[in-house]
Amino acid sequence: MKVNVKNHTMMYPAPAVVASAYDEEGNADACTLAFAAMCSHHPPAVMIAINSTLKRKTLKSILHSKEFCLAFPSAEHAAEVDYLGIESGYRENKLDKINFTHKKAEKINAPLIEEFKVSLECRVMHVAEVGSHTQLTGEIVNVWADESVMKNGRIDFELLDPLAYDDITHSYFRTGEKIGDAFKIGLKYKK
Ligand SMILES: Cc1cc2nc3c(=O)[nH]c(=O)nc-3n(C[C@H](O)[C@H](O)[C@H](O)COP(=O)(O)O)c2cc1C
Repeated sequence: MKVNVKNHTMMYPAPAVVASAYDEEGNADACTLAFAAMCSHHPPAVMIAINSTLKRKTLKSILHSKEFCLAFPSAEHAAEVDYLGIESGYRENKLDKINFTHKKAEKINAPLIEEFKVSLECRVMHVAEVGSHTQLTGEIVNVWADESVMKNGRIDFELLDPLAYDDITHSYFRTGEKIGDAFKIGLKYKK
């Protein structure tokens, strides 16, 4: 038996990622986002959605610079990621407060946060207003990964130990173990 549940925006697993951009004065902004997803292979692109009614500083900075970095934090940084999602750059220099360091990304003018082990450099290629949020599509123009999360020349998300976020209970989770090979375990039904 199923129960009818109240309408709620949801997607699971949802990532807890961190978008960063420079503001008009060149200060680094960063905020945590759960509204983030892959959206194109050619060109490689991701989309993020930032609330436009609640005055996020990072949104203003991304719309100004048209560039942003998107980092995939590890579970070890859950508290720092949470802080970046509950404080505003309008009030605090958040990255300084958590003692995180950053440098200008290579191909774009956006802050690359050193403590996060995987980061994308993105150029805004499309902006759309979707209800309460501004949806930004970023073309991925460069990807960085710590050697510590590389295995056989590829990023290994098990080594990254990324954060998943549940917007129903407002909780962070680790992702689970591998259970199969995609595009293979379903082959038995193709015969
Ligand atoms: C786990 C988590 C996920 C979040 N996801 C989003 C999101 O997808 N979009 C959004 O607009 N805000 C999201 N937020 C809230 C922003 O990160 C928060 O308002 C932040 O303080 C904005 O900072 P800024 O003003 O420096 O940009 C999230 C916060 C947390 C803790």
